[in-house]
Amino acid sequence: MASQFDAHGRLRHLVTLKDMPRTQLAALLDRAESFLTPMGAQPARSDALAGRTIANLFFEPSTRTRASFELAAQRLGAEVLSLDVSTSSRAKGESLLDTIYTLQAMQIDIFVIRDAQSGVPAFICEHVAPHVAVLNAGESHLNHPTQGLLDVLTMRRHLGDLSDKVVTILGDIQHSRVARSAHHALGTLGVGELRLVAPPALRPDPAEFPGAVMLDDTDAGVRGADVVMCLRIQRERMEQTRAPDGSDFHREFGLTPERLALAQPHAIVMHPGPMNREVEIAGSVADSPQSVITEQVTNGVAVRMAVMQTVMETLHD
Ligand code: CP
Repeated sequence: MASQFDAHGRLRHLVTLKDMPRTQLAALLDRAESFLTPMGAQPARSDALAGRTIANLFFEPSTRTRASFELAAQRLGAEVLSLDVSTSSRAKGESLLDTIYTLQAMQIDIFVIRDAQSGVPAFICEHVAPHVAVLNAGESHLNHPTQGLLDVLTMRRHLGDLSDKVVTILGDIQHSRVARSAHHALGTLGVGELRLVAPPALRPDPAEFPGAVMLDDTDAGVRGADVVMCLRIQRERMEQTRAPDGSDFHREFGLTPERLALAQPHAIVMHPGPMNREVEIAGSVADSPQSVITEQVTNGVAVRMAVMQTVMETLHD
């Protein structure tokens, strides 16, 4: 498999946060932080990617990730092509690689890929030209590295050093690339305790989450936590007959105001979106002062700017 690093260890593609060196991860967070401006102020802009072209190829639905990659590229001065996959020639049987080669011939510099199938971003890394970068924007249940970065950036901005903090992730862990990328990033940065709370049917193989504490008692999982991150039931990744009922799930595993009161008084509430209110999270909790869900979205643009600028520097400096 092609490495996401070049011969000097610099980030060339972004496929996963697993085993990313701490200095590199921290440098991406620091750079993202430099792109943040106060709400109401103009967003940060530069011409770092002027003359470059970014192609968004989303073979699964997206609102946040696709829009923020698009805005991030524009704010760095790049041109952006967001291919409408449903009306592309993929529908006429063109292979994924032929689609990539076709767009690459139009002088694309960065491919941003979301796909339901495991291994697709790494596969494309192996086939693009040496001057082209590939960024994983969500890969099956396995990786969502820019989401992992924006999540730890949000935690770091609210809580500082995470080494004595308790982070609880609540919901459908088994099918969640968000949980896996958060686990990768928190493992690298160091976290006091990572708790994963899920019903037995949605619990992952513990071997995939070394160091994490698995629980099926929601109150115990939330008690004393500094961060509570809720995840939706990923119905698209399971047979519908296996999907839990939404109101049963809310009663046993949803983040209600009563449950949030068990967390630290300063605890922040996170959700990668899209949310299903009154299933994994009560609407009143999502809209409460402890919720940082919209900040996560803001931080996502900054993270994607940082990642794109970093890989372009690797390829062209
Ligand atoms: N968090 C996230 O990936 O959201 P979208 O599916 O809307 O991109």
